[in-house]
Parts: sequence; C-alpha cells; structure tokens
Amino acid sequence: MLYDGGRKTMITDEEFLRIAAYMKSHYGIDLGQKKVIMNGRLENRIKAGGWGTFNNFMDAMEKDQSGKLEKELVNQLTTNYTYFMREFEHFEFFKSQVLPWAKKKAEKTKDLRVWCGAASTGEEPYMIAMVLKDFFGLEHNSWDTKVLATDVSTKALQRAVAGTYEEEALKDMPDQWKRHFFQKPVAGRYTVTNELKQEVLFRQFNLMSPFPFKKKMHTVFLRNVMIYFDSKTKQELLQKVYDCLEPGGYLFIGMTETLDRTQTPYQIIQPSIFRKRE
Ligand SMILES: C[S@@+](CC[C@H](N)C(=O)[O-])C[C@H]1O[C@@H](n2cnc3c(N)ncnc32)[C@H](O)[C@@H]1O
Repeated sequence: MLYDGGRKTMITDEEFLRIAAYMKSHYGIDLGQKKVIMNGRLENRIKAGGWGTFNNFMDAMEKDQSGKLEKELVNQLTTNYTYFMREFEHFEFFKSQVLPWAKKKAEKTKDLRVWCGAASTGEEPYMIAMVLKDFFGLEHNSWDTKVLATDVSTKALQRAVAGTYEEEALKDMPDQWKRHFFQKPVAGRYTVTNELKQEVLFRQFNLMSPFPFKKKMHTVFLRNVMIYFDSKTKQELLQKVYDCLEPGGYLFIGMTETLDRTQTPYQIIQPSIFRKRE
C-alpha cells in the first residue's frame, strides 16, 4: 500500500518481503532489516510514477523487458556512499608493496590489470588511477594500466563518468594531485582531466553474475560492498574473486569489513588486505 485517500501509508510487510527477496536473490543485497529505509527510498518514486502501490511497481518491473524499471529499483536501493582518500593506507600499501610486485610480474606484457568492483561515483577508481600514474611516472606511456571500474548502479556510474565533484569532496587531497588530475574549477566544481578519465573504464556489472574476465587480475578492490551481503553470498563472492586473481594477486576489502579466517583460501596480509598464494 502507498497512498490511501491522501493518507501516507507504509509499505506493507508483504511488499517489503517481496522487494527484499528480489534484491537478495538478484543482487545479493540483504535489506531484511531495512523496511523504513526501503520505504523512504522508494515511496516518492512510486508515487511520481503513478504506480499506486509497491506491488504494482514490482508487477510492472517484472514484466518490463527493457530493464528500465529494474535499473530504477537498483539505483534507489543501493547505497553509494564513498569519498576521495577513503582508507588512504590502502593506496600507500598499493603503491609501496603491490605495484612493485605487479610491475615485475607483468614486465613482459606491460599489461597491468586492476579491477574496482564497487566503484560507485568514481572516487575510488580515480584514486587508483592517480596512484598508478604517480607510480609509473614517465614509464606510464609504455604500460596499459587502465582500471576496470564496475558497479551495479547506473546512476552512480553516470556521475563517475562525468567525474565532476564539489570542492568539499577534494578537501583532503594533496594539492599536487588536485593540480595534476583535475581541470580548473568552474563555479567551485572540479572535473577530472580527460587524461585521467581515459585511465578508467566504467561498466555496469552485478557482482552476483559470473565473472566474464578472460585474463586474471593483479589487484581487486572490493571495498565497503560486502557489508550489504550475507555471509554465504560473501563467501561465494570471495571465492570467485580468488579465482579471477593472478597467483600472488591482491584483494582489498573495506577496513571495517571482516573475512572468515577459518574458511579463506587467501593469505592474510593485513586485516583488510589479502593475497592469492603464489
Ligand atoms: C558504499 S559503496 C562503496 C564504494 C567504494 N567501494 C568505497 O569503498 O568507498 C557500495 C557500492 O556497491 C555497489 N553494489 C552493491 N551491490 C552490488 C552488486 N551486487 N554488484 C555490484 N555493485 C554493487 C553499490 O551500488 C555501491 O555503489
């Protein structure tokens, strides 16, 4: 139920369970305890679209061959919170430990493969690209270090591709990076340079899908996304990531996230940094 004679009504338990089950089975996202949040995020959209009830929207979505309504649902129900410099210690470790190893490993092909699997609005993959540019310096031109940046939310990815951020978002970034990697601000807004944009390839991808990669990754960033998944989903995803890594390849997860130490094939380097055995 949504609006009853002008009176605002909460999503019903049945509607809530239906949407939660859909999000869990298709996207791994566990919204089982998030009824108020779900209602808040969907009610205006459902009202504006004239659907009347959450169930009507879900019926239409399941019939919609174009996939447009499903995208809308996912865009509304994912949490895209992210920021530049988040968990910066990871980037220091990436530069000082991971990249020297990866450079050696890929020295023949000069093809270095980094995947950011929950790229949201772009801050994290752009940071990775900045570190790569910094690390390779003048040698960068002879390497292919393009970062693959994926997310399930098309709305977040649109913002990532635009690469425009408020001045406030860059407040903790070193001035040198701001100068190098952003165009001159317009009305207090900063846009990533075209040169840096070319270093990141944004694509929509659902982490629950089979991984389509032909080549193995040297590093995977999967930070602050598994908090939305239950432990079985997380476990299966971690195994798929393991399989897509080069021997010796690294995985970064969020610093507040955990991984079951008893059940993991990874070598634990730090609480949020893991490595596939060489
Ligand atoms: C909180 S953000 C984290 C962003 C960034 N990794 C960071 O640490 O700042 C979580 C992101 O995961 C994405 N996400 C959630 N479920 C997903 C799925 N099944 N497949 C791909 N991305 C997903 C969301 O759309 C969102 O942009």
